[in-house]
Amino acid sequence: MRPDRASWVLDELAFAGRENLDADHVARYDQKEDADVAAEISALAAGGLNRDATVVDLGAGTGQFALAAAKIARRVVAVDVSPVMLARLRAKVAAAGLSNIDCVQAGFLTYEHDEAAADVVYSRYALHHLPDFWKGVALARVVQMLRPGGTFRLWDVVYGFDPGTASGDLERWMADTESASVDDGWTRAELEEHVRDEHSTFTWLLEPMLERVGFTIVQSDYSDDRISARYTCTTTER
Ligand SMILES: C[S@@+](CC[C@H](N)C(=O)[O-])C[C@H]1O[C@@H](n2cnc3c(N)ncnc32)[C@H](O)[C@@H]1O
Repeated sequence: MRPDRASWVLDELAFAGRENLDADHVARYDQKEDADVAAEISALAAGGLNRDATVVDLGAGTGQFALAAAKIARRVVAVDVSPVMLARLRAKVAAAGLSNIDCVQAGFLTYEHDEAAADVVYSRYALHHLPDFWKGVALARVVQMLRPGGTFRLWDVVYGFDPGTASGDLERWMADTESASVDDGWTRAELEEHVRDEHSTFTWLLEPMLERVGFTIVQSDYSDDRISARYTCTTTER
């Protein structure tokens, strides 16, 4: 965190999610969650992820994407607000012997990209930690980090259903967790906590927000249960 953060700026650590500051959760995270990196890397092949690229991963967590991207890109900056996640990420980077990943403790609202503009910014399952006003501010900052024509790949829990059917759609999502164990899947209690305490928004709020800050959405993929969305966006030439 920058010490000179204005006192009205959201405290991202306080909004980082209880579980992301919990050492037990972080230790089992890679067993619980598969970030589908092969598909994500291939989705970015046409979007500038190549051996000359600088990539910024915002909310990198244990670094599943960052480590895979570092095998292709020139340089990866893995940013996360949680010191617990970052410690796990640093240990994995050291174990992998990768010298082209920098791990930075910062958030969407505080990371300063003080170098040549990035070719690709990536963020998976992290933006929902910010309330909508701050999502807008964060997305505007992503535009500034990217070179003109650069790519932003965003994957998050974003609700594609209507507010009036929320209860039924959320219950159907949670019904899939009946047999999940906390060690290798997401339990109903964890999904309930996500909906209640975190800030996933609707597709029809997030998409205009992306466009308003200067992105063109070139591809949108929605999960069948209308619970998550993946977007590939480019910055408008400026
Ligand atoms: C569910 S994990 C996802 C990790 C990784 N991106 C993945 O797909 O496996 C969410 C991550 O976002 C981080 N996070 C939460 N709020 C953040 C913020 N404001 N800025 C940056 N990272 C944040 C958490 O610490 C956590 O590591």
